Amino acid sequence: MKTIELPLPDDFHAHLRQDAQLPGYVRDLSAQFGRALVMPNTIPPMTTAAAIADYKSQILESASFVRPDFEVLMTFKLNPNYSEQDLKDMMAVGVVAGKYYPAGVTTNSADGISDFEAVFPVVAMMEKLGLVLCVHGEEPGEFCLDREPAFIKRVEILAEKFPKLKIVFEHLSSAKAVEAVKRLPNNVAATFTVHHLMMTLDDVVGDALRPHHFCKPLPKRPEDRAAIREAAFSGNPKFFLGTDSAPHLQGKKECPCGAAGVYSAPVAIPLLVQEFDRAGALDKLPDFIAGFGADFYQIPRTTKRIEVVKESWTVPAVVNGVVPLAAGQTLEWKIRD
Ligand code: NCD
Ligand code: ZN
Repeated sequence: MKTIELPLPDDFHAHLRQDAQLPGYVRDLSAQFGRALVMPNTIPPMTTAAAIADYKSQILESASFVRPDFEVLMTFKLNPNYSEQDLKDMMAVGVVAGKYYPAGVTTNSADGISDFEAVFPVVAMMEKLGLVLCVHGEEPGEFCLDREPAFIKRVEILAEKFPKLKIVFEHLSSAKAVEAVKRLPNNVAATFTVHHLMMTLDDVVGDALRPHHFCKPLPKRPEDRAAIREAAFSGNPKFFLGTDSAPHLQGKKECPCGAAGVYSAPVAIPLLVQEFDRAGALDKLPDFIAGFGADFYQIPRTTKRIEVVKESWTVPAVVNGVVPLAAGQTLEWKIRD
């Protein structure tokens, strides 16, 4: 049986939710990843050291049953009101990044940023303290497919105004954004999700309405997906994995006003092995899943390993009340238990 050994992956963009849902989502993620950057768009949002410390301990408690050495990198939701002491207090409990959500562009972002320049003083403090700025780069009010390209100018402004700030343009979905990240200085990197590597808008609405593929930013044209794939398979250190695994209960997706988010955590690594293998780029996978991201965040690369075996299995129709990516499909690669 064919076996591949890989470094234990890092997920630089994951949603773990709260309360009764959290333990199952943490178990699914920690089964495949050794470290995760946890997004702050909870209700209420993560904005204080005390709340983040509590959230972190809940996550680690749930992970302890699957992977006792699971590590979490925490984030806070950016707003204009933080003091430098607030940021230092959050760093003391494990925060490594702040997340910029433009107002209203995605799940739980109604309280996001509408006045771009109002956050500059906090962003300047982040630059000084070495906190990474993670950006959901979609411009509110634009036509849905144009929101990401329309946001590029803001990333350019941030990169120019704050040259020492590390910026991650999250979950790229357009060729224009891939091009911009390549062009911008080395303080700007980007994450790719598994689903944006695999899907176009056709997989969301092309033949039928597939609510479990609906996410922000929307998957776009074939040439956009091609640009993402080319960059992921090229071994360019500016591009690394952030799954944006974003679980919503089945009923929140299969309804008249469905939530945005794809639940990829249960299948992320098998699908990535499949895609890199088919592209003849398996040699580029270790850095993409467990190298370039750690380097950018300036944390040590992992020394831990997992094994993936060529053994077919069928993805369950529902996992923890959520319909996962590739539900019901037979995959050819499996994580060895
Ligand atoms: C995410 C979620 O559900 O929290 N949804 C999504 O479609 N990606 C939020 C986000 O990262 O945009
Ligand atoms: Zn996200």
